[in-house]
Parts: sequence; C-alpha cells; structure tokens
Amino acid sequence: MANAMDSAEDTAAIAHQAAPEGAPAQASPRPDSLDPKAAEAEIAQLRETLAHHNQLYHQQDAPEVSDAEYDALKRRLLALEAAHPQFLSAKSPSQTVGAAPAEGFAKVSHAVRMLSLGNAFSPEDVHEFEARIRRFLTLTPDEPVAYTAEPKIDGVSLALRYEGRRLVQAATRGDGSVGENVTANARTIAEIPETLPEDAPALFEVRGEVYMAYEDFSALNTAQAEAGAKAFANPRNAAAGSLRQLDARITAQRPLRFFAYTWGEVERLPAESQSGVLAAFQAWGFRTNPLAKRLEGTEALLAHHALIEAERARLGYDIDGVVYKLDRLDWQTRMGFRSNQPRWAIAHKFAAEEATTVLEAIDIQVGRTGALSPVARLKPVSVGGVVVSNATLHNEDYVAGRGAKGEPIREGRDLRVGDTVRVYRAGDVIPKVIDVDLARRPKGVRLWVSPETCPACGSPAVRETGEAVRRCTGGLICPAQAVERLKHFVSRNALDIDGLGTKQVEALYRLGWVREPADIFTLEARFGPEGSRVERLASLEGWGKKSAENLFVAIQARRRVALSRFIFALGIRHVGETTARLLARSYTTWEAFAAAMRAAGGPVERRTEQADETEGAEKPAEEIPVEDNPAHAHLLAIDGVGRTLAEAVLAFFADANNARALEHLLAHVAPEPEAAPAATDSPVAGKTVVFTGKLARLSRDEAKARAEALGARVSGSVSAKTDILVAGEAAGSKLKKAAALGIETLSEDDWIALVGQ
Ligand code: IVH
Repeated sequence: MANAMDSAEDTAAIAHQAAPEGAPAQASPRPDSLDPKAAEAEIAQLRETLAHHNQLYHQQDAPEVSDAEYDALKRRLLALEAAHPQFLSAKSPSQTVGAAPAEGFAKVSHAVRMLSLGNAFSPEDVHEFEARIRRFLTLTPDEPVAYTAEPKIDGVSLALRYEGRRLVQAATRGDGSVGENVTANARTIAEIPETLPEDAPALFEVRGEVYMAYEDFSALNTAQAEAGAKAFANPRNAAAGSLRQLDARITAQRPLRFFAYTWGEVERLPAESQSGVLAAFQAWGFRTNPLAKRLEGTEALLAHHALIEAERARLGYDIDGVVYKLDRLDWQTRMGFRSNQPRWAIAHKFAAEEATTVLEAIDIQVGRTGALSPVARLKPVSVGGVVVSNATLHNEDYVAGRGAKGEPIREGRDLRVGDTVRVYRAGDVIPKVIDVDLARRPKGVRLWVSPETCPACGSPAVRETGEAVRRCTGGLICPAQAVERLKHFVSRNALDIDGLGTKQVEALYRLGWVREPADIFTLEARFGPEGSRVERLASLEGWGKKSAENLFVAIQARRRVALSRFIFALGIRHVGETTARLLARSYTTWEAFAAAMRAAGGPVERRTEQADETEGAEKPAEEIPVEDNPAHAHLLAIDGVGRTLAEAVLAFFADANNARALEHLLAHVAPEPEAAPAATDSPVAGKTVVFTGKLARLSRDEAKARAEALGARVSGSVSAKTDILVAGEAAGSKLKKAAALGIETLSEDDWIALVGQ
C-alpha cells in the first residue's frame, strides 16, 4: 500500500472532445466545417459586433447584450479563429484584454487549499482504498459504496472564483495555499464562462484543469518553430507556459481548454454528490469530462479504468490515470484530509510506458545528505511521448543486480556502460532502467563499480553495513552536498525564493558568493554600495537587471517564514513537508522546538522494550517506549514521529556545524509560529488526546481525524503532557498509566458527547 499513498505531483494536460456531452446545443455550424470564405465572413462580422459591444460596455457603460450573450459571441469567434488560424489577427477583439500586470503575478491565498491526490498503481491498491473507506466510516460489508471515476487530466489546475455569478479571480495552484493571480489570462479561455446562471450560488469557486489538445499543441509548436521560438516539450508544458504569460494577449492566442471537476470555497453546493455537482457544472456552461461516470464498487471502477485506458490514445489530449472520488459528499466531509491529500479520493495511474535504448554512461550524483546515487545517461529515447535521457539507478546494488536484501533482481543481471537497456516511465515519476538485454551486450564492456571517494570533494565515500547507500563523509566541505542543501532550502515547498533556481544556486556557489543559507540574506548588502548591487548580479551570465532586482525583492520577502517551511527547508534527513508541519504544530515556536532539541542533547538511544499494547499498530510511534528524557518523550509522542525520524532530528541538532549554520541563518530569518489548525472553540482545541482500546461507534481513524479537525493533537502514547485519554473496550496499560498520572479519562460515549457526532 506504500505506493498507493505516495504523494502525487501535480501533473498533466488535456484535450478536446469533438462533441462534448452536455455542451449547449450549437445552432451555428461547427467552426471546422465552414469553408475558409464563410469562416472569414463570419469572423469579420463577429469582430465588428464584439467591437461594438466592447465600446458600449467599456466606454459608455451601456451594454446592449447580457454577459452570457457576449460570452457566446466571443466563444464563437475564438472557436472560428482556432479552426481557421490563417485569419488570426492581433487586432481581433478576441485578442484584446485588460492590461497585464507590470511585474510577475500577484499572489492569491486560496480560501480552501488546493490538494493533490494519493496514487494507486494496481487493483490491490484500489481494493485497499475501498477497504480503508469502509473501515473509516465503519460501513457494513453489504453497504454499497458509489464513486465517480473520471480521467486524470494532465494539465494545470486552476481555481475560478465567481462572486455575484461573475468571474472575479482565476488562480493557479502554486504550493496549494498560495497561487498566482492569472485572471486576465483565464478570461481569454473560451471554455471558461464569464458569468454563471441565476440559479448558481452567489459565491462559488469552480476548480478544474487547463490543458491543450494534441492538434493545438502541434500547431503551436509549428508556429513557434516558424517564429524561431523554442518548442514546448509536451502539451502540459505548453498549457502551463501559455497560462502563465505576463501578457494576456499571448495567452489569448493559445488554444487552451478547461475541464471543471471540483470546487473550493462555496456558499452552498448545488448537489449532495460528486456526480450531482458535475451535472450542475455542465448546466452552468462548463465542460466536464465526458468519460466521468458514477459507479458502484471497486470492480466497476477497475472496468471503467480499463475502458478509459483503451480510449486513451483516441482522446486527443493527455491523461495519466483515472481519479476515483467517493460520490456522497457527506462521506467526503467525514473522511476529510490527511496532510495535503483527501482520504476520499485516489488517482489510479495507468501502467507505465517502456522503451529500449543504450546506456551511455553511469554518473554519480551526490545528494544533500551525501548519498551517492548512480544515474543512467541514456541515448535519448521517447517513452510514451516524453524524451528521456536520464534515469535513476537507485544505488550500487541495483546496478549490480541485487535488491535491498541481497536477493537477485533482473535475475542477477548487472548493468554496464554500453548495454542495451529497457527504460520505464510511470506518469510523473523519474524514469527507471528496469532491465538489460544481455544478447546485445557489446564485447569488452567492463563491470561497473561504485567509486569509493566522493566525485565532488574526494572524501571517502563509505557504505555502512546494512545500508544500501554509500555516503560521502565530507559533510560541509563537500560542495555537492552544500549546493544540494541550498537548492532544497530555496525550493518551492521550502523557502520558495523565486528566481533562485538550480542554475543560479550553482553559479552563486561556484563564485563563492553563497555558501550557506545565511549568505542568501546578506547577498544584497555584500554587493557594495547601493546602485551597483543590481549591476553586479546582473553582470553574471544568464541574469538581467530585472531578474537581479526581482531576486533581491524575493529574498527580502522571506525574512519571515512559516515555521513548518523553515523546518522543512533545513533538509533534515527523513523530515518531509508533512513531518515538518507536525513538528511545527507540536512545538508551535522555533524557540520551543530548538530548545527541546538541544535539551535532548543527542540522538535517541535505542531500546528494545516492547510497546505496551498491540492495538492500532500501524504507526511506529505506538511501538516506541517513552524515553526517560522528556524531550525525547515529547518528540516520540507526536503521532507520526517514529524512532528513525526522532534520531535524525536529534542528530541534526547535535552537529556543531549545523548549529553554526543555524545561528548564522537565524540572524536574518524569523520563523513565524504556526497558525493552529482550524482554530475552533471546541473544548478539545489545543489539547493532547490519546485513543486506546477498541472504539465501537467510530473507527480509530475517524476519531483521530475528527479530533485533529477540532484543533486537538493526537498522540500515540500517554505522558505527563497528555490531557485526555479516550479509552474504548479492553484498554490496557495506557489506561493504567493515565490513571497513575491522574489524566482525565473518557469513555467513547463521553468523548462523543464532548465533541459532538
Ligand atoms: S480532483 C481534492 N480530479 O491532479 C481533489 N484532480 O494530483 C483535488 N487532476 O491538482 C483534485 N484531473 O491538477 C481531480 N478529474 C480530476 C483531475 C485532477 C487532473 C489534477 C489536479 C490536481 C492533481 C492531483
């Protein structure tokens, strides 16, 4: 099941249906059925009409037609121009929109976060998805469970906010919490209505995917080539690049399309089911995917998945899987979210694509924690439409044909430079080399062995017994590790410093201008007197004056940063975004977190004691004995923090070099206390709650999710910090321990009475 929950990256772009189901009936002939003369005449007439209405609307404030009628005219014009691009003109009313923002895009905070989806790769994962739903909601085995199954469009997600039934804002997903305001651009997309009908709620945020169809994509690339501009690698990139144009007139020339599939902030919902909301979207003038279907049970889901996969090549746009969503919205609400993924939906990805090519070299990449990873350099090959020239080889055992436990993989066949290999790519995941054709191995190719020194700093690279990974021992002196740490520090989900990408970080490091995170914040001041600063940075290759100025502004903006982002940015081993958020919420302030880690004074000692109870054993924290040291105990008591993680965090703080780098950094950056999740006036907000024993009315998962939604912290073990123990049937040693510590203990019924159903 591990795979099924891997977080999904935002992926992909979509396409155009010849005859969208449910689209409003079109009295006029299809744009592509008109001969050029007729098309030209109609285009000319529409341009005149639209120019007339524009004039009335913008200059005389006296429109003669409704917004919906105006929209229909404009949509018709765009469709005709798309079908007959020889008549495109920059002066067409389809191309003229309000002025683009002068600089970058304004940021938009999403009132409701834009989430990603967990993945399923196999029928077992899908069965497990339903089993989890049934457990969570404590459904009887004969209770039917209905879903919608809809293609997962490979494009760019977009949130459209309608206030008073008018489109007032369009925003990209960004990091899920904050996106970019691309309203002017979205208005140029014909498939996005300007207004909603009277029966739609006054406030409604429609979300969906902007994509480009294959035919439009190839026409665009042909035009790009003719204009001497760079071609787009795939339709998704073309859609993203077109949507994020600073000049909306350029977006207007790009044939973008839109499928609506979900929503954000709403005043009320038009239906009680996912399928009902999709039907309402259609009635409001949006396109929804014609392959979306309401189905009961996992077998029906799998059959529809097979059908969509078989249709895939004929759709005319990219999809990379099928999304299953629980149809009943009340059940969706009860299930809620875990981290940034809904528990009630999953993306069932298509089987991977494969291709054969030649392994030209095996390079070593040094990661931010010093891990040496072999990387395959391949003769470029198209794998399912994407050109692949690099693939991961995981670690040296993988190259040698051995798995994690020493067992043979590929029947023990090793990989050598010069080999013909099979490459596999699944959706947005990094391609892998999965097999080698020994019959095509050239004579004289040599066995590949991992270097025993770090290729970046020359320090010994050591492989500890029992470890799959060889690590550089150079620590801070290793430039590769330092650069990787810096890249991570500025990356989108960490400090998110716009304008500091891979190339810029590498250049600044090479010049010696930025060697550790703190240096980023002193960069501007170190560049000499005011005025010359921008010039100096701008003089570097690949920089311009504008980008240098923007960078300094972006850096300034990050002197205050949310604690969870800051913790994530430190690049502590095993601390991903979810864990960083857990730590931030648990300790609330940087000061409290750092003080506790320093007080702990070093990694957690390993103990072999058994956990006190066997219930709900899926979380490692349940099995960890509470340490005597209270700082360890606090760390381990956080639900979701296991021993490996606790050790990594404490080791990070115990390292003198890290301590120094942190001290430098904190002179410039102030991590801000994390807003408590969903601040509520619930009696359990801010309390630490432990569940034990068997609950009868709620599943353990739902009880925990509900407690967290009310602002409580749920912990796996009882300590002096526990506020409430909820004891179900047959509670054991946790109940005894709580009694000994004088902790308030509630039955399941007491708990439900306290927090409500
Ligand atoms: S629903 C709460 N439905 O996939 C669920 N997403 O990995 C939110 N996507 O960011 C998403 N087709 O950009 C949903 N039919 C579909 C989708 C879809 C494509 C994208 C979307 C989202 C990403 C999640």
